Amino acid sequence: MPPLKCQGIKTKLVGEIRRIAARQDFQRWVEPFCGSCVVALNVQPERALLCDSNVHIIRMYQDIQDGRVTPALAREFLTAQGEKLSAGGEPYYYEVRERFNRDPCSLDFLFLNRSCFNGVMRFNRKGGFNVPYCHKPERFAQAYVTKIANQIRRIAEVVAMRDWTFAATGFRETLAEVGLGDFVYADPPYAGRHVDYFNSWSEADEDDLARLLKGLPCGFILSTWHSNEFRTNAMIPKNWTCPGIHMLTREHFYHVGSSEDLRHPMMEALITNFAVGQAAREPAEATQQLAFFERA
Ligand SMILES: C[S@@+](CC[C@H](N)C(=O)[O-])C[C@H]1O[C@@H](n2cnc3c(N)ncnc32)[C@H](O)[C@@H]1O
Repeated sequence: MPPLKCQGIKTKLVGEIRRIAARQDFQRWVEPFCGSCVVALNVQPERALLCDSNVHIIRMYQDIQDGRVTPALAREFLTAQGEKLSAGGEPYYYEVRERFNRDPCSLDFLFLNRSCFNGVMRFNRKGGFNVPYCHKPERFAQAYVTKIANQIRRIAEVVAMRDWTFAATGFRETLAEVGLGDFVYADPPYAGRHVDYFNSWSEADEDDLARLLKGLPCGFILSTWHSNEFRTNAMIPKNWTCPGIHMLTREHFYHVGSSEDLRHPMMEALITNFAVGQAAREPAEATQQLAFFERA
């Protein structure tokens, strides 16, 4: 697990994406919406271009890569800040939030991401982090700090052995870089959900992304939502009912969400520009993955 949590994190789809990717031949893995980086960290390609418009996420991974954020530093920082949180409670959380919004840095971002309400990542219209406090003054107990330090250690190890580039870019710019030999995993915000400064996703964005993906000279997987009990994703028939496009769907629950999707089952879709054969399943994950089926 990565040290950062974000909405739409693909923890539950990682196994399937990894299996599909393992059967593809590519030299570089590209993610225009890398978010927490949980997918890349599990696929572990030798070369990767990992991009997101959220500069704070990208700064954190660049800082880990360049050794500016180490497991030891994170442990020391979270222990000291955790003691202040324990003594100061809610006002101290808001002091750190203000400090971060004045002068953003990775360690404050980590502190806020791991002590805010519900572990969400949300920014106001001016780009200020605006998630309230989780109301757990003992949040940074020793075991929790160790867990986060270990997550950072693991990433530092993975990144040190690989040729990975992190960049704070919009998806259009990222996809313009893509060429033969690349493989793209695109996981855009779901329109109408989790809208904030870094996630203002419109139908025009959705259409542009579909056009750019369909024009790629390489394979791609697109994550999107398929349906919930209230409605189905109109963008699928609009943009993805065409020759050469394939879709897998799977139901799972969202635990962090806004408005209607809160704790309602949601069918996820993986859309690809290649046929996905039956995956050889890893025994531990077999039951978890049974709900997956190929639609087209
Ligand atoms: C659904 S999340 C990705 C989650 C990620 N796959 C994971 O498992 O953690 C979507 C991401 O897209 C980013 N994003 C939103 N609009 C973007 C844009 N126009 N260009 C690039 N990234 C964007 C957000 O900052 C967010 O991190």
